[in-house]
Amino acid sequence: MTGLSQIVICAALAIGAIAAPATRQFPSTFTVNQVARHVGNKTVNIPASYARTLQKFKATVPERVAAAAISGTVVATPSDSSDDEYDCSVTVGSSTLALDFDTGSSDLWVFSNKLSSSESAGHAVYTPSSSAKLLSGYTWDISYGDGSSAEGIVYADKVTVGGATYTSQAVEAATSVSSEFVSDTSNDGLLGLGFSSINTVEPTAQKTFFDNIKSSLASPLFAVELKHNAAGSYDFGFLNSSKYTGSITYVDADSSQGYWGFTASGYGVGDSVTTTTSWSAIADTGTTLLYLPTKIVKAYYAKVSGSSDSSSVGGWIFPCSATLPDLTLKIGSHTATIPASYLNYGEVSSTDTSDCFGGVQDDSDIGLSIFGDVFLKTQYVVFDASGPQLGFATQA
Ligand SMILES: *[C@@H]1O[C@H](CO)[C@@H](O)[C@H](O)[C@H]1NC(C)=O
Ligand SMILES: *[C@@H]1O[C@H](CO)[C@@H](O)[C@H](O)[C@H]1NC(C)=O
Repeated sequence: MTGLSQIVICAALAIGAIAAPATRQFPSTFTVNQVARHVGNKTVNIPASYARTLQKFKATVPERVAAAAISGTVVATPSDSSDDEYDCSVTVGSSTLALDFDTGSSDLWVFSNKLSSSESAGHAVYTPSSSAKLLSGYTWDISYGDGSSAEGIVYADKVTVGGATYTSQAVEAATSVSSEFVSDTSNDGLLGLGFSSINTVEPTAQKTFFDNIKSSLASPLFAVELKHNAAGSYDFGFLNSSKYTGSITYVDADSSQGYWGFTASGYGVGDSVTTTTSWSAIADTGTTLLYLPTKIVKAYYAKVSGSSDSSSVGGWIFPCSATLPDLTLKIGSHTATIPASYLNYGEVSSTDTSDCFGGVQDDSDIGLSIFGDVFLKTQYVVFDASGPQLGFATQA
């Protein structure tokens, strides 16, 4: 495997294969590498994306955000996109799909061959394998504050992630998606890595892929290395010590809300921790930005001249010419510094190219502090189901 060209997407690196039980065939450890997906001149409707974040965490979408999302006037070109999105290649039934691995949700939902060709344009679609079983009477649906929605039916089918196959995975096949999903060609669906308690299949919640395979891994964990402007990776069942420096600091994970929750312990604007305080947060690969308590966000933007909390844009903005400080966060005894360059999300809109949107935003509407990609790109993060616990170390 290792001799293959790096062009092989999401290549599996298998170590220590084990005997295969009836419904599982896989190595006890494997790595899934992300692959860049070129999506052209990617733009983001900032209020719509914020509305989706709010609804993902069951928060109320304020009227001004919903209105701005629907009018779609604030369309940014993210500075970190390089016109690319990073997904993982997963075999679902008979199809190979580019899925977004999301530790903040617990559904595996995909564009499917039940969609009309106009709904699935730009996407690869799931076709059930010959051994797929339709779960009769089972359904799922999601809808967001910006008006976007998707719904469908559920199969038990074969899913292969990085060489690991589970033959009876709940696959949520979309039978209808709204125009917002149609135009977002950045992936063909999501693979949730949150706790199975928040899976949305009715009438009975289904297990995530990770829950289904974890007992057969060398250790019941996965570790995430997301990168700034580059493809990252997910290690399942083992830790790769060449991906981090120093040691890993573990803290208890709180799974009570179905997310990978933990307690953060301090912060500082700049490269060191200046304030010790504790607050609850979650680690979410499926959220782009870093959402922190108001006090911390205000302390940060107090050091950015010209910054303001813009209600029309739906968050903190600043002149693109401003010099940003770094931001340091503490978890347990570990400190993580986010470089200033990660904290500029890009120009606010094509008509306002002098203002930029901040990578760190206020969490008060969400009611939950979210350590999203802006933070995760600095760390090697261990999601360990034993405990459960989370581990953090600075990326190598
Ligand atoms: C991207 O935007 C530039 C500048 O507006 C334009 O010239 C180019 O054709 C666009 N590329 C794509 C793939 O849309
Ligand atoms: C560990 O990561 C390094 C750097 O990405 C990679 O070259 C190496 O193959 C990985 N080792 C294992 C055992 O996966």
